[in-house]
Amino acid sequence: MGSVEVELGAIPLGESATIKWRGKPVFIRHRTDAEIELAKKDDDVVLRHPETDLSRVQKPEWLVVVGVCTHLGCVPIANAGDYHGWFCPCHGSHYDISGRIRKGPAPLNLDVPTYRFEEEDTKIIL
Ligand code: FES
Repeated sequence: MGSVEVELGAIPLGESATIKWRGKPVFIRHRTDAEIELAKKDDDVVLRHPETDLSRVQKPEWLVVVGVCTHLGCVPIANAGDYHGWFCPCHGSHYDISGRIRKGPAPLNLDVPTYRFEEEDTKIIL
């Protein structure tokens, strides 16, 4: 299975890129300080699938998640929904800025794929 390299310099702060990995979309979000704070703050709320933000990232400014809704597999939309993250239009699941499920029928958080940073963190390899 081939690996995919992503140049992080092409993703401005506060924006997301979608790449294709093993036939699935992967969202890479360059999170702002405010988004990181929001994600950490929400560690304290009751979560359907409890995971801390820190357990879902390698570097807080980069969130990398598989862009497949854990309900029935639609692709959620970025910068949408009630939690500053993603919204799945198929049946209305809302994910937060850590990719955690917050509202709607999806049972689990968006999956975190295996990846690593390389070349002084200018790129990631999936
Ligand atoms: Fe996303 Fe149903 S597939 S809410």
